[in-house]
Amino acid sequence: MQNNKFYIATPIYYPSGNFHVGHCYCTVVADVIARYNRLIGKDVFFLTGTDEHGQKIERKAEELNMEPKEYVDKIVEDSKQLWKTLNISYDKFIRTTDENHIKCVQKIFVKLYNQGDIYKSEYEGKYCTPCESFFTESQLIDGKCPDCGREVEVVKEESYFFKLSKYEDKLKKFFIENPLFLEPETRKNEMFASFIDKGLEDLCVSRTTFKWGIQVPFDTKHVIYVWIDALSNYISALGYLSEDDSLMKKYWPADLHLVGKEITRFHSIIWPALLMALDLPLPKKIFGHGWLIVDGKKISKSFGNYKDPREYIKYSSVDALRYFLLKEIKLGTDGNFDEEIYIQKINSDLSNDLGNLVSRVVAMTEKYNNGILSKDSFLNTGNTKSDQLIIDLIKKNINEYKVNMDNLRPDIALDKVMEIVSFSNKYIDLNEPWKLVKNEDSKERLNKVLYILAESTRIIAVILKPFMVTIPDKIIGQIGCGNMENSWQDIQTFGQIPDSTTCRKTENLFPRIDKDLILKEDEIKVEEKKEEVNLDGIITIDELSKVSLKVGQIINAQRIEKSDKLYKITVDLGSEIRTIVSGIVDYYKEEELINKKIIVVANLKPAKLRGIESNGMLLAAGDKDVVRLIIPDGDIANGENIH
Ligand code: MSP
Repeated sequence: MQNNKFYIATPIYYPSGNFHVGHCYCTVVADVIARYNRLIGKDVFFLTGTDEHGQKIERKAEELNMEPKEYVDKIVEDSKQLWKTLNISYDKFIRTTDENHIKCVQKIFVKLYNQGDIYKSEYEGKYCTPCESFFTESQLIDGKCPDCGREVEVVKEESYFFKLSKYEDKLKKFFIENPLFLEPETRKNEMFASFIDKGLEDLCVSRTTFKWGIQVPFDTKHVIYVWIDALSNYISALGYLSEDDSLMKKYWPADLHLVGKEITRFHSIIWPALLMALDLPLPKKIFGHGWLIVDGKKISKSFGNYKDPREYIKYSSVDALRYFLLKEIKLGTDGNFDEEIYIQKINSDLSNDLGNLVSRVVAMTEKYNNGILSKDSFLNTGNTKSDQLIIDLIKKNINEYKVNMDNLRPDIALDKVMEIVSFSNKYIDLNEPWKLVKNEDSKERLNKVLYILAESTRIIAVILKPFMVTIPDKIIGQIGCGNMENSWQDIQTFGQIPDSTTCRKTENLFPRIDKDLILKEDEIKVEEKKEEVNLDGIITIDELSKVSLKVGQIINAQRIEKSDKLYKITVDLGSEIRTIVSGIVDYYKEEELINKKIIVVANLKPAKLRGIESNGMLLAAGDKDVVRLIIPDGDIANGENIH
């Protein structure tokens, strides 16, 4: 079983907000590869999940007045729903907040510390919180994060370090001896030019300035660097260093990590070095795919150029979206996601070519032979030139499909499928069944043509199975082959449909999408949204009047345990006393706050923060360095409304 296994593990997602179609790309491609490997008979383990720790998540939760765990729980649920909608066939969903994962990461840290690969020192350098990445001065571009272009923060703190430098030569040697380890070639060149050739410095692997992470077990003021935590998921999910490590024995090393290009560095440098330190075999392949882009920019929350994938699915289908992502984007390069082209492609490839083929084959068989397929007619007469052409083409294309799927070129594999579709349509035109039916002497020929078409359609459906999840079975159902195995083995010899199988037309598989209607509806929605929110940031007086602002007075302020930033503040609002949790510890001492008159948003929905219910918000202004409370000019009574 060992060499028949296929372990594919994709990046685990930051639950930092809404998912967009760019996020889905990697997991959809991985799902197609997993399903393909199952189809050809491999024992597949497909892992995905969520990467829930780190400063970014902690800050996000704080902004929303929520506990980090409470915040991630909600988004993780949404991500699971999305994977369900997209039919992602993962075998395990790991959360880095899972107890088993936490224990495993702590054991890894202790092991590396005990063997001298992790040591304590002090870190002083630049950190990009959105990317959760440390950078040296030479890696920055114009002083900003080389990955996302945002400002970096200066970080100076006592830290633990991983001896990455120790593994530099070993890594270089590994890359030379394993030329296919990192693909595509362009990524390998980038990794060498930007990182490996510049020399690998030891990596800071702990933080002390926030709490939301896995604690270093022997020094609990440190939390483990989120990338060490996250990368370890690939082995913690298999039970590494736990009592039951049977999955680890069975599936490790991973056969493929399919990851976005901006995180290839972590997977092709840090991850291999960590595995070397743990004395574990390295993954067989890291593949750094490109980005989905819109108007030349990465689809991303920060650019605001994204839509929830479910919006496309609403008017098309999951299978259509999966098809488009795999067909239109060459794995490894960036690909444009243009909604107009999306609709055109579905209409042309799926409604016209594939949908028409299925409906013509089934309709003609129903009309000309009561839906019955005759294997005898197929076997009893010799092949014409066009029969031989289609049978040979199918055989050749199945082989090329496999080669391309194995080489991670699903786009070309799909070309091979669509070539069979288009030749099958051509085969109908070449053989003109509507003429054959008029002549009693051509009955056997007609039935042979219909049989060949049905078998070709069945084979198309089988090799589409990794790409589409409901359509292949529907096609197989319409040509009456639902009882067959329809396995990879089953399509290696042409002519497997049993005699007297009966076709029945049911639904139209790919109704055409009215491009103008959809794009128009979209425009209307954008306009409505503009009116509702007003994209220029202007709100109406009615909207403003919904916010209740009141004068209050602080009567007590107390640091919240286990939080560096938060005060529990008690405010006198005239007719009532309120508790408000506020992140101003860095800017005010407790005693400075007492008796201060302030302005409070009084009708904000209550939220729990570090277990304390916060009822309202204090108004303050400033940036990260200086934040000051907004105070009323003059002695205004507590509870007074602000107009
Ligand atoms: N949490 C890390 C991964 C840790 S793996 C040990 C992370 N998460 S992420 O949510 O930011 O990104 C998850 C995946 O989505 C990454 O592979 C990333 O490249 C991919 N994408 C995010 N936006 C994308 C596009 N616009 N296009 C294609 N993929 C993109 O990174």
